[in-house]
Amino acid sequence: MAQIFPPWANRLPVLTLLAAAVLGLSAVSFVWYYFSPWYTDVGYRPTQPVFYSHLLHADSLGIDCRYCHSDVETSPTANIPPVQTCMNCHKIIKADSERLQPVVQSYVTKTPLKWVRVHKLPDFVYFDHSIHLRAGVGCAGCHGRVNEMLVVSQAKPLSMSWCLDCHRHPDDHLRPPDQITNMDWEPAADQVEFAAKQKHELGIEPTVDCSGCHR
Ligand code: HEC
Ligand code: HEC
Ligand code: HEC
Ligand code: HEC
Ligand code: HEC
Repeated sequence: MAQIFPPWANRLPVLTLLAAAVLGLSAVSFVWYYFSPWYTDVGYRPTQPVFYSHLLHADSLGIDCRYCHSDVETSPTANIPPVQTCMNCHKIIKADSERLQPVVQSYVTKTPLKWVRVHKLPDFVYFDHSIHLRAGVGCAGCHGRVNEMLVVSQAKPLSMSWCLDCHRHPDDHLRPPDQITNMDWEPAADQVEFAAKQKHELGIEPTVDCSGCHR
């Protein structure tokens, strides 16, 4: 009888299994890589053109976040303040300081400072600050205790699973909307009832649809 399969074909089932295993594994690691919080920039802290400290300005001096990030409640993106905002104080305060010279120069020559972006989502993700703030999600929940940072660093993964965790269970993250910039705010004992009430009153229902964040 003629041989239909060459001898190496005996090894075919094993090879197929092996190939399937390898493919399966890479699919798992693909998902692992992209969808798990391990693929992040937590701790990313670029060097800025000026040694500007949130610890000093937002904590010791107690300046509200919105004095500088003034668009954050009305627009998708939070603005970085122009040097004019700094010069409201620094025309007088420490105007001769070495550390402030880049600010003064920028103001005089009308060339904006080139701050290095810390948080950055990919272009295919839609994010909107104002929606979150209106719902009563505080800055600290997404950016950590910025008021304790000498230099801003990324505190949270900004990964898809991170967004979805909160969208599925927002209750612990909601606070009265007038407390969004309060870095010391803690949930009270009645947080569960409070969250239920706020969700009802403000109609809060965070999206988990792909098209909610990928438009
Ligand atoms: C006096 C002005 C001022 C105040 C007040 C202020 N910031 Fe900032 N903030 C800046 C400047 C300037 C930058 C850009 C330089 C940097 O990243 O440190 C910045 C950067 C940031 C960034 C990083 C932006 C990026 O590139 O991703 C976050 C987040 C932030 N601020 C949050 C806050 C929060 C929260 C508060 C209130 C607790 C606050 N800021 C108060 C001026 C201010
Ligand atoms: C509300 C007033 C106010 C605003 C607005 C403000 N600062 Fe300041 N800044 C201060 C005060 C007060 C100090 C501390 C001065 C001292 O140490 O005596 C200071 C200190 C500094 C220092 C350290 C100076 C040194 O020599 O130690 C830098 C740098 C600085 N600010 C940058 C900025 C930048 C950049 C902005 C704008 C994004 C800004 N400040 C906005 C009040 C302000
Ligand atoms: C629900 C989470 C969340 C909350 C709440 C939040 N942020 Fe952000 N913030 C982000 C994300 C995500 C980015 C990156 C956005 C991007 O790349 O498009 C960001 C970026 C920023 C930036 C850089 C400029 C920009 O818009 O990309 C600043 C400044 C900032 N946030 C300040 C604040 C301040 C101040 C508050 C509170 C008043 C706040 N954020 C509240 C998640 C949040
Ligand atoms: C700490 C909690 C929290 C985190 C983290 C968070 N969100 Fe949200 N998100 C909310 C809440 C609460 C709302 C308000 C929903 C409403 O008003 O119906 C919301 C609303 C939104 C909306 C408007 C659509 C809608 O549901 O009405 C988009 C888009 C969105 N989030 C994108 C993101 C993205 C992208 C990330 C991650 C980079 C993110 N969010 C992280 C809590 C969060
Ligand atoms: C609440 C917001 C949110 C929702 C809802 C959401 N995503 Fe995402 N998605 C993100 C964010 C943020 C990233 C970027 C993560 C990163 O950069 O690490 C992302 C990344 C991705 C990526 C990775 C692409 C790449 O090249 O890295 C894919 C694929 C994806 N999303 C598909 C989906 C699908 C499918 C759904 C619906 C089941 C969905 N997303 C729902 C926020 C969301």
